[in-house]
Amino acid sequence: MKKVILQPSGKEIEVEDGQTILSALEQGGYALPNNCRAGACGECKVKVCGGEIEQGFILDMALPQSEREQGFGLMCMAKAKTDVVEIEWGTADALPKLFPPKENMPYIVMEKMEVTPTIAKLRLRSLGEPLRFWPGQYVTMGDKDRGVPERCYSIANIPNNEGELVLYITKVPDGQTSTWVHESLNAGDRVKVNGAYGTFIGDPSAETPVLCLAAGSGLAPIASLASGALMRGGFRYPATILFSAKDESHVFDRGLFSYLETKFRNFRFNVTYTKQKVEGKSFGRIPEILPEKYPDLSNTSIYIAGSTEFVDACTAKVKELGAKDELIYTEGFISQ
Ligand code: FES
Repeated sequence: MKKVILQPSGKEIEVEDGQTILSALEQGGYALPNNCRAGACGECKVKVCGGEIEQGFILDMALPQSEREQGFGLMCMAKAKTDVVEIEWGTADALPKLFPPKENMPYIVMEKMEVTPTIAKLRLRSLGEPLRFWPGQYVTMGDKDRGVPERCYSIANIPNNEGELVLYITKVPDGQTSTWVHESLNAGDRVKVNGAYGTFIGDPSAETPVLCLAAGSGLAPIASLASGALMRGGFRYPATILFSAKDESHVFDRGLFSYLETKFRNFRFNVTYTKQKVEGKSFGRIPEILPEKYPDLSNTSIYIAGSTEFVDACTAKVKELGAKDELIYTEGFISQ
């Protein structure tokens, strides 16, 4: 089997005969930017620094001749010609590169729904160029004209052709922006979105089991990360989300997690309730129940998202249980 080596990280990915390099990268959990997957947009351009590719049919406007001569190629159409192909892509540890954020992107509210007693779901669709993001990143949103300050909201879905964003907004007592979302914003309204920001993108290609810990709307970036990784062939070892909820009325996005559990046998979505005892379900806060459920986390990648108090308490506990600093990724929501 042929292989592709990413530089400067040196990480290796196997490529099947006839498989495009983009597809092999995705199967390896690497999210190389792409758009048309047909050699027409130039999005998947990288420099080939070793070996040779068969470029296949691509448009000149996507990769001018001058760039081909400099060694660039479009990976959505490229196949490995030599046993080893080396490409320049990714940082030293081959994490995905971030997209430059944009401001005042026009969106329309397609749907607004109260999904728990405190969280509203917003589904937004781009009216212009869709915002580009990695699963786990966040946007900011507010209404400057009405004096509603911009606040950060994690994106809960994965990049998609419609340019849709799903946000879960927790109602914060005296929070101007969350009150505006919950009480004034409706389907059909226009909003301005900025982003994407943040580096809570982790390493979907990690060769370890994965444990994601979330509370409240911290489930949003975790949902995006987990579905993004699983759909792209990442998180290949046992991957579990453990969600902390007061009671059953505070659990949301069950449909997505049932779908992922059915489609990926290594994935589980578990809930622990902190105010209600439910037969067959865990009871208690995550830091309290972790030692019995996960006594050794020394070889597990950990993702934690929620309030800063939740993140701090969980981080301290997973470290006690052996989790390594370099395998812990956190996103703490600061109340503004
Ligand atoms: S994804 Fe458009 S050129 Fe490769």
